[in-house]
Amino acid sequence: MILKELDKSYIRDMVRLYLSAYEGLEEYSYDHPSDAEDYINWLFARDSDGIIGAFDNKELVGFICIDKHWYSKRERKTLGAIHELVVAKAYRRKGIATKLVNRALELFRENGLDSTELWAGVNNLAAIKLYEKLGFEARERYGKWVRMVSNLSFGELRGELLKNTAP
Ligand SMILES: CC(C)(COP(=O)(O)OP(=O)(O)OC[C@H]1O[C@@H](n2cnc3c(N)ncnc32)[C@H](O)[C@@H]1OP(=O)(O)O)[C@@H](O)C(=O)NCCC(=O)NCCS
Repeated sequence: MILKELDKSYIRDMVRLYLSAYEGLEEYSYDHPSDAEDYINWLFARDSDGIIGAFDNKELVGFICIDKHWYSKRERKTLGAIHELVVAKAYRRKGIATKLVNRALELFRENGLDSTELWAGVNNLAAIKLYEKLGFEARERYGKWVRMVSNLSFGELRGELLKNTAP
């Protein structure tokens, strides 16, 4: 599995993957290809080098779309946002989303951001469990969405503590 930054030449592949990944979860997604394409263009416009794909050989099997310039009204500061994350159905439960999220957290830290947030569908248990496993905590609900946050400096601190206690 290789992670690689995606450019706009991947938009058609991303639309295809996005639509099939959200089959059965349409209440949380765009289900018309042209809406999905507009949405993916918006994601590139938000952070053109924040679109990371996961490849199995040459096949795009997952991607994450992050935003290193997101102003959170709830937190009243700029933080790292995860706007989108999808993994192809045939490739799930193999740790691909985990790798993509960890790469996103690394990029946020490299850019000096100290926290991250995202909105997940309240009934999207796979996503919520994944994010909880990676240290995110659920905050308030807004309609059918729940906001999840994670403190990035805590991860670094934990790393430092481990380093300092190592023999
Ligand atoms: C959510 C999604 C990205 C997870 O991708 P994935 O590559 O299968 O996730 P991982 O393999 O990294 O899973 C890591 C952990 O998350 C949890 N998890 C993932 N999918 C789960 C599921 N269907 N049910 C319960 N827990 C799940 C598990 O704890 C899992 O660890 P385990 O496999 O050791 O038990 C994928 O299901 C998806 O594309 N869903 C549709 C799009 C979507 O909902 N995106 C999220 C937007 S907020």
